[in-house]
Amino acid sequence: MVKKTIAIDGPAGAGKSTVARLVAKRLGYLYIDTGAMYRALTLLVMNQSIPVTNEEEITALAKKSDIKLINNNGRVFVYCNGINVTEKIRQPEVSHYVSQVASIPGVRKRLVELQRAMTGSGRVVMDGRDIATTVLPHADCKFFLTASVAERARRRYRELIEKGFKITEEEIEADIRHRDVMDSQRKVSPLVCAPDAIVIDSTNLTVTEVVDTIIGYCERMR
Ligand code: DC
Repeated sequence: MVKKTIAIDGPAGAGKSTVARLVAKRLGYLYIDTGAMYRALTLLVMNQSIPVTNEEEITALAKKSDIKLINNNGRVFVYCNGINVTEKIRQPEVSHYVSQVASIPGVRKRLVELQRAMTGSGRVVMDGRDIATTVLPHADCKFFLTASVAERARRRYRELIEKGFKITEEEIEADIRHRDVMDSQRKVSPLVCAPDAIVIDSTNLTVTEVVDTIIGYCERMR
């Protein structure tokens, strides 16, 4: 594989993290889950009881917080100020507030800087909402992964139930719809499909089929 940077964007629950992690594993690339970084900051905001509307204080917090992703044996661990928050950032409450925190311009500026610094000399798969448009506009391969709202809610529901959270599929679907609106309508780098991205609708595809499709395109773009 000669391509160095792979960007995967798409709405909540489209399967980006699962697919991006597997693509990175197969290619021996570094996987960067940018959503996890916005989630880590949101958890910190919640723990410090800062209202999500307080943009100034949240921006200041983003600037002084150390958010790191550590890849170990194909798994990604998320650290915030030295504390492992990998599990905690998946709580439904974090999911509920994260879009609002992610819409703050100062937060995006700081996290985009960190994300770019993490790419180093390349060989990365990065997933998020604004990777192909803002973080890595010169990425070698760009994908926009999507699926129907019902299918995305079903997937998230299964994931959360397996982790022991008590939540209904209806609540998840409502949350996904809310995040779709927030993520695609915010002023700074909203969720949009880059004009040069390849769109993959995963509603009726297995994870392996999506991974194979992405790697297939990357090989052909050589
Ligand atoms: O991919 P995810 O569900 O873990 O992302 C959590 C939230 O973070 C998502 O609702 C929007 C925000 N996000 C963003 O604004 N930009 C990114 N590059 C990644 C995530």
